[in-house]
Amino acid sequence: MDLVSLPGFRDFFPEEAARRAYIFSKWRDAAERYGFVLYDGPPLETTELYRRKSGDELIGQLYCFEDKGGREVTLRPEMTPSLARMVASRGTSLPKPIKWFSIPQLFRYERQQRGRLREHFQFNCDILGEAGPAADAELVALLVDCLCSFGLTEKDIWVRVSDRPLLAALLEALGIKADGQKAVFQAVDKLTREPTEKIHANMVAGGLTAEQATKVLSLFDGRKLMDIASEFDGSKTVCDRILVLQQFFGILDAMGLASYVEFDLGIVRGLAYYTGIVFEVFDRKGEFRAISGGGRYDNLLKTIGGFDLPALGFGMGDVVLGELLTERKLWPAKLMKGLDAYLVLVDEKLRLPMLALAHQLRSTGFSVDYGLSETNVGKQFKAASQKESRFAVVLGPDEWKRGMVKLKNLMTRDEIEVGVEGIVKRLQESRLSHSTMPEPISQHRD
Ligand code: HAM
Repeated sequence: MDLVSLPGFRDFFPEEAARRAYIFSKWRDAAERYGFVLYDGPPLETTELYRRKSGDELIGQLYCFEDKGGREVTLRPEMTPSLARMVASRGTSLPKPIKWFSIPQLFRYERQQRGRLREHFQFNCDILGEAGPAADAELVALLVDCLCSFGLTEKDIWVRVSDRPLLAALLEALGIKADGQKAVFQAVDKLTREPTEKIHANMVAGGLTAEQATKVLSLFDGRKLMDIASEFDGSKTVCDRILVLQQFFGILDAMGLASYVEFDLGIVRGLAYYTGIVFEVFDRKGEFRAISGGGRYDNLLKTIGGFDLPALGFGMGDVVLGELLTERKLWPAKLMKGLDAYLVLVDEKLRLPMLALAHQLRSTGFSVDYGLSETNVGKQFKAASQKESRFAVVLGPDEWKRGMVKLKNLMTRDEIEVGVEGIVKRLQESRLSHSTMPEPISQHRD
């Protein structure tokens, strides 16, 4: 029997599970601070749901099969189609704007590489029912705020923002029609991952002339929004979209987040359903794959469920984020919660009263453990320290006769004799002085 997990799938031993729980708690906190509420959907959906709009790259990565009832089904590779299906199914009954978040586990048959596995957890935040750029800016603010709550700053990360209709209008101005535009979007999505010659060749294979492909590539030379505005001032769509982007950047500027966001025409996003502003978050040094990505997808609900509702959102995976936190040494020093008390039995005859005491303390809300079989006192203390217990409660025959136990603080090594009520009081005080929150992140930074 092979004891390793499948390629691209992870085991979460307690330490990794604690890191995952930490990431989830920060994600949840950020979403709730921005007024988002939790939802979830099924991990298995019809394959048809993704065929409609996810795009060729993702379709090639589906974990799909026929179930025992003969249905074509797929383990969800992303959350957005499920969200669109769920919201469309309730139609008009949901108050707008809808602000929902979710943390699904997703499955994609990708080539396993740094930052990309075959399963990952993805924080999804979406706003539905709001057409203006205030919603796009709100979402990016949440995204940045969330990453900052892990201790990352504008020196670590940046959000690269573009606009699909703007790029389409620029291509139109270069004489490139719908089919050619699709080829450009697909090729440009790999701009940072593939050599320029290959991207050029892919565009030519997609129907562009070599000259057109060269002109298209020159659009991605890092030019600013204002350069584009003056160069293409004859196109109304270009001017309209630049206005929308200016509003978007203006809102983030007012929120004090301008240093995190930059216009970058080269961001197009691989998924086919985006219709407006799109963005991706990268580390500044460019060492990792995208940390997060998202954008506006105003037609997806109509395509999937016949319900016309503007929508936008982002997904942030746990894999690249985890790698970045490791590289920047931003994990809190202590993530595993220790015990409040470990009960140490000096004489096995006291096992029954010890069980009663354990139950009493646990039902008062303390985390308590003890040896399940007879063990010497030394081993019991060793177990207490392995479980990072703050206290040992020692039940010895002499003290017990007097209605007392020894309470040993395992950090200071102080020891006192107390009655059972005394234990509760001491443990409560210790709880107050040891907040369950991790220490401030800045303390752990080099
Ligand atoms: P996506 O760009 O495909 O977008 O994924 C979003 C993020 O999920 C990526 O930036 C990355 O952090 C993580 N991710 C994706 N694939 C993998 C993988 N194989 N292994 C590890 N991490 C991965 C979406 O999925 C959109 N549905 C996001 C969205 C929500 N758009 C609107 N609302």
